[in-house]
Amino acid sequence: ELQAVIFDLDGVITDTAEHHYLAWKAIGDELKLPFTREFNEKLKGVSRLESLRLLLSLSPTELQYSEQQLHELAERKNELYKQLISQIKPSDVLPGIPELIADLKQRGIKTAIASASKNAFAVIRNLQMEQQFDVIVDAATIKNSKPDPEVFLAAAQQLGVEPKACVGIEDAVAGVEAIIAADMTAIAIGKQEHFPHAHHTYASTAELNAEQLIDIHRKVIS
Ligand code: G6P
Ligand code: MG
Repeated sequence: ELQAVIFDLDGVITDTAEHHYLAWKAIGDELKLPFTREFNEKLKGVSRLESLRLLLSLSPTELQYSEQQLHELAERKNELYKQLISQIKPSDVLPGIPELIADLKQRGIKTAIASASKNAFAVIRNLQMEQQFDVIVDAATIKNSKPDPEVFLAAAQQLGVEPKACVGIEDAVAGVEAIIAADMTAIAIGKQEHFPHAHHTYASTAELNAEQLIDIHRKVIS
């Protein structure tokens, strides 16, 4: 029986996946790297430093960056990102999410956030959604980032729910892998072809609904 739904934050609750993309794109343009939206799929759900390494892997020459330079680039990306998210307001929640959360609560199903971002609390605060989730786990307390299951397992543990009784919702390839590695039911948001391993993929959060999640979960565990 479905007992909890664990949401990724960026790109699932609000469109900060776009803000991360725009901030990395600015750094990529500056370094004249051929950074595309398609390549950006690899960065989704991945930690800040790992994202930077992926971005720099686009360099045709084997440029060597010192630890100091890497740190500066990551810091600059984060400053750009923080500027973008400072504008986030409650109406920026993605379609279907408030209704889904309300419906889950009514059915006694718990909710949590599992985010790889160190800015997760700032985003949730700007959305004024702090009270909406039973548990919020962000990058601060996690050692291994997605695709490692740690952040999803930590959320389930704090909720007091077995992983098998959880559905995870993600817009990132690394995130879907993390959910599956956590032995949970994996719901992807985005293009089907990006998520061959998800148990179900929706094109948009607007299509999410509690009844279907319960059905999908029941089939996965049976
Ligand atoms: C999330 C996003 C990634 C981002 C990561 C770290 O997983 O999907 O795009 O790189 O968080 O975010 P941060 O705010 O700590 O740089
Ligand atoms: Mg995401």
